[in-house]
Amino acid sequence: MRIDRLRAKNVRNFRDVELQPGARLNVISGPNAAGKTTLLEAIHLLARARSFRTACIEEVVHRQTPGLQITARIEHGEDGRLDTGIERGEGRWMLRYAGETVKSISAHARKFPLVLVTPDSQQLLLGEPKLRRHWLDWSLFHVEQGYVALWREYHRALRHRNHLLKVSAPGSELEVWEVLMGRSGEALDAARRQFIENLQQELTGLYRTLALGDTPAIGLEQGWRAEGGLGEELLRNRRADLQTGHTRCGPHRADVSFRISEADLAAWYSRGQCKEFIVLLMLAQAAVFAACTGEEPLFLVDDFAAEMDGPAQVRLFGLLESRRGQSFLTCAQAAEAWGSVCRTTRFHVEHGAVAKC
Ligand SMILES: Nc1ncnc2c1ncn2[C@@H]1O[C@H](COP(=O)(O)OP(=O)(O)O)[C@@H](O)[C@H]1O
Ligand SMILES: [Mg+2]
Repeated sequence: MRIDRLRAKNVRNFRDVELQPGARLNVISGPNAAGKTTLLEAIHLLARARSFRTACIEEVVHRQTPGLQITARIEHGEDGRLDTGIERGEGRWMLRYAGETVKSISAHARKFPLVLVTPDSQQLLLGEPKLRRHWLDWSLFHVEQGYVALWREYHRALRHRNHLLKVSAPGSELEVWEVLMGRSGEALDAARRQFIENLQQELTGLYRTLALGDTPAIGLEQGWRAEGGLGEELLRNRRADLQTGHTRCGPHRADVSFRISEADLAAWYSRGQCKEFIVLLMLAQAAVFAACTGEEPLFLVDDFAAEMDGPAQVRLFGLLESRRGQSFLTCAQAAEAWGSVCRTTRFHVEHGAVAKC
């Protein structure tokens, strides 16, 4: 899918801006505080009805106004050309897609696939396992139809088991949920494994294209002992779990590992290398989405040049330029620094205005 026209009214420092992005790579440059990230935020709001910068969506509304409006004309592979928009007026938020009010944000998000890289994305390498699990689940939600139902089934059974553990219920009551957790948990794990395998394949392809040497290995730590089934493991752990009052193994304790030459990537790589890896990982993710759904996701990179040296910037810029789907990147400097820009649509943002270069 792609955005052909975007209009943002009263979004942070923008009173009313309109732009017609190109079908491939769009570069948004401008000085600090010009509103570059705000433009990506506006696209993110359209896709997810939330910001990636703040949990409080109200912060995005221009300070001196009560409401905001973001509209876009998009070209969607399946639905064709249509209008979508989000607005806040009279105290409430409303998201529309093709003339209809959106009732399910998650169904809408599936229609509006988007992959985002911000300077915070490095947390995927450095942060808690919970962040990586969330990323994995969110990715699978986009590519695997039945994943959400499976996820809900597993977590429902987990909640029941945890409750029964807390009240020291007899084994006969625990067993029902353990069987259910075993079945749905192993299916969750299989879907995750398949996704990681696809991701690894795409990532290897990108490393080969750029002649970057060894590709980091993406691994899945499934959350229970590898040798047995989950149901058996739950049974084995029952007595210990009754003591702690919660379930200590299962896909809710899974983690994703990133390793290079047997070492933990985050500990081995420099910040700049981590940044380059994250952009490549997300490009691989976008490629998996496209292969599984037939729809190229939008690819957004905020502060593209930050932390990367010149050669890394040139390499990744080239990849973004050759991407089939639509991409948006923001940076402080003009894109000419990275070579030919003939296939790139460029915008300059300053003093709350956006101009095509
Ligand atoms: N609710 C708001 N109303 C008005 N201006 C805002 C609001 N929120 C943030 N700003 C301002 O918007 C400007 C744009 O920020 P940002 O998009 O982060 O800039 P850039 O990414 O170009 O550095 C900043 O000067 C910021 O202070
Ligand atoms: Mg910014």
